[in-house]
Amino acid sequence: MIKLIDLYKKFGSHPVLQGLNLEIEDGKTIVIIGRSGCGKSVTLKHIVGLLKCDSGSIEVDGVDITKLVPLELQEIQKRFGFLFQGAALFDSMSVYENVSFGLRTQNIMTHENDIKERVAECLRLVGLEGIENTMPADLSGGMRKRVGLARAIAAKPQYILYDEPTTGIDPIMSDAVNELILDMKQKLQITSIVVTHDMVSAYKIADRIAMMYEGKIVQTGTPVEIKNTDNPIVKQFITGSAKGPITLENRG
Ligand SMILES: Nc1ncnc2c1ncn2[C@@H]1O[C@H](COP(=O)(O)OP(=O)(O)OP(=O)(O)O)[C@@H](O)[C@H]1O
Ligand SMILES: [Mg+2]
Repeated sequence: MIKLIDLYKKFGSHPVLQGLNLEIEDGKTIVIIGRSGCGKSVTLKHIVGLLKCDSGSIEVDGVDITKLVPLELQEIQKRFGFLFQGAALFDSMSVYENVSFGLRTQNIMTHENDIKERVAECLRLVGLEGIENTMPADLSGGMRKRVGLARAIAAKPQYILYDEPTTGIDPIMSDAVNELILDMKQKLQITSIVVTHDMVSAYKIADRIAMMYEGKIVQTGTPVEIKNTDNPIVKQFITGSAKGPITLENRG
């Protein structure tokens, strides 16, 4: 289980996290929503220890990772898979090298045959069997997302963090990615934290949805609870209205 407790983070004088609290239950999918620039990606990066908070704590299975030395943190990081925003692949590396990257750098597997088998298995899971030798430049956006997902699951993580997995791909491909995220939960009992703007995807995959606003979580609830929210900030976000309490003019 992951607990974010009273997190604060500033970049220079710009406060991004301002007392953020969130609990993520094992085996569940939580979706974080919120406007561009509100700090969703920053939150994910804190959970995996890529950014350090100014104050607060981040408990992963009962251990406060903000207190760990780098070697201890690296051990905990093995429990995470991360699908980065934009599905950033290493462009100079083949699909095979991309998917096996974490297995090698984290010393999870050393025998090339084991690595080959695992890469093939992960590509099969995301529906891209046999594309090991393809270069990222020759893939469509949807395929890149799926290769990113294959890389994220390669080390059999306990937690997967997805940063906008369906942004920039067509609705049918988006739905295929949603199905994959549901599959990961059902087949591998993975706990997922998904950041998205895509409410169709959020309602489909989430056990719980958390709305981020001004550096905090302003509401969490089941998809039904969020759909029927009384909170004006959440309401405005999910209906996509540019009128209401937050406009470009008054959001500061
Ligand atoms: N490493 C960094 N150094 C300085 N500022 C940063 C850094 N990372 C993020 N920020 C700032 O923190 C704020 C939140 O960024 P973040 O990427 O988390 O937004 P987001 O909610 O993921 O937005 P989007 O939906 O557009 O991806 C932004 O103002 C951004 O410019
Ligand atoms: Mg982001």
